[in-house]
Amino acid sequence: MLLFIDSADVEKIKRLNSMGCIDGVTTNPSLMAKQSLSFKDAVNAICKVVDGPISVEVIALDAKGMIDEAKKISKIHKNIVVKIPCTAEGLIAIKECSKLGIKTNCTLVFSLTQALLVAKAGATYVSPFVGRLDDIGQDGMLLIEDMVKAYKNYGFKTKILVASVRKLEHIRRAAIYGADAITVPPEIIDDMLKHQKTDEGIAKFLEDWEKVKGATI
Ligand code: E4P
Repeated sequence: MLLFIDSADVEKIKRLNSMGCIDGVTTNPSLMAKQSLSFKDAVNAICKVVDGPISVEVIALDAKGMIDEAKKISKIHKNIVVKIPCTAEGLIAIKECSKLGIKTNCTLVFSLTQALLVAKAGATYVSPFVGRLDDIGQDGMLLIEDMVKAYKNYGFKTKILVASVRKLEHIRRAAIYGADAITVPPEIIDDMLKHQKTDEGIAKFLEDWEKVKGATI
């Protein structure tokens, strides 16, 4: 399962990328608005740090506007994936981008019927928002289970990118169900590594070592 950082914060992206487990980055207008660089500088800076797919979202709501923005954004760097919302205009833009060889990530997907249309339009990635489904009392991960099965039934090439991740349980179930990729906020990537027994084990090993051999090897 590909692991993307869900952030536009270049310093956080640098720190996590140095661990060697990061495959790409996803941003959205809300994440971009939180950081201080200009849009283009932020995108360039992220592309310099991570050598993998970098999702950057359009703002236009009409197909022509989305396609124009997609052309501009995709020229910034070869790794750019253009994020386009799941609307009728968005599907038109995705189809056209696919013809033009521009990679796309269809965002704000909340149902299997939307996900089927996105795959048929030829999106490179589809982003189902599991946390926001949980927020309205549903089990967001059931959508991932359904999507993996349905895409397999018909051999769709669109990659399932689990988004709106809020907890480790989302990551565990995404891996069990066989999602292609998941995008995770920096704080939750840190949580992926933590285990009380790992910390306890390190402390005990050091304590035993120091009793006999001192602090150095
Ligand atoms: C990433 O592609 C999405 O924009 C992001 O995961 C949304 O997460 P949120 O629901 O926590 O805002």
